[in-house]
Amino acid sequence: MKNRTYRRFYQEVVVEHQMLRKLVDLARLSASAANLQPLKYVLSCEPQKNALIFPHLGWAGYLKDWQGPCEGERPSAYIIILNDTRISQSVDCDHGIAAQSILLGATEKGLGGCMIGTVQRQKLRKVLDIPSYCEILLVLALGKPKEQVVIENLDAAGDIKYWRDSDGKHHVPKRELDNIILD
Ligand SMILES: Cc1cc2nc3c(=O)[nH]c(=O)nc-3n(C[C@H](O)[C@H](O)[C@H](O)COP(=O)(O)O)c2cc1C
Repeated sequence: MKNRTYRRFYQEVVVEHQMLRKLVDLARLSASAANLQPLKYVLSCEPQKNALIFPHLGWAGYLKDWQGPCEGERPSAYIIILNDTRISQSVDCDHGIAAQSILLGATEKGLGGCMIGTVQRQKLRKVLDIPSYCEILLVLALGKPKEQVVIENLDAAGDIKYWRDSDGKHHVPKRELDNIILD
């Protein structure tokens, strides 16, 4: 319930490298198909490195008039989830499990974040010098959340698009339980 997607942060609140390591340790202990454990991670919590990552991310596709968090509200840290193709060519759903473990851990530590799949992967690989045998799967943006997010039921039209009200509160429609359990 507490672990929502956040896209605006108190950028000045530092997330320490040691905190990122602890969060990756939760992913390390999570389930992995055939126990192959092909995932690798790039950590970033310094402003200079964060600034290299930010321009390559796509934010909130449904909020058409919002280009992403402004300077001062950007993530304080990132964890980039990679697949080491030397270990496994296809990664199954390990990265989703890892991402959720990391975000649940972050929530427990008073942080929050966003899984980002809209990534300019080739450009990001280049600026971070990520080895060619590693495929960029997901970027996790992390920080101290600076926005309120509420969940609500889908409206009568069944619209799943999240939206932001005039107070800046972010609304996330969720399908109701009885509509997703078939039997
Ligand atoms: C695989 C995956 C990729 C996502 N990619 C993006 C993205 O590129 N940009 C973004 O702003 N949010 C992204 N999200 C966040 C979703 O928009 C968010 O989970 C959804 O709106 C529901 O909100 P909630 O996480 O608070 O329940 C992604 C989520 C997942 C699971």
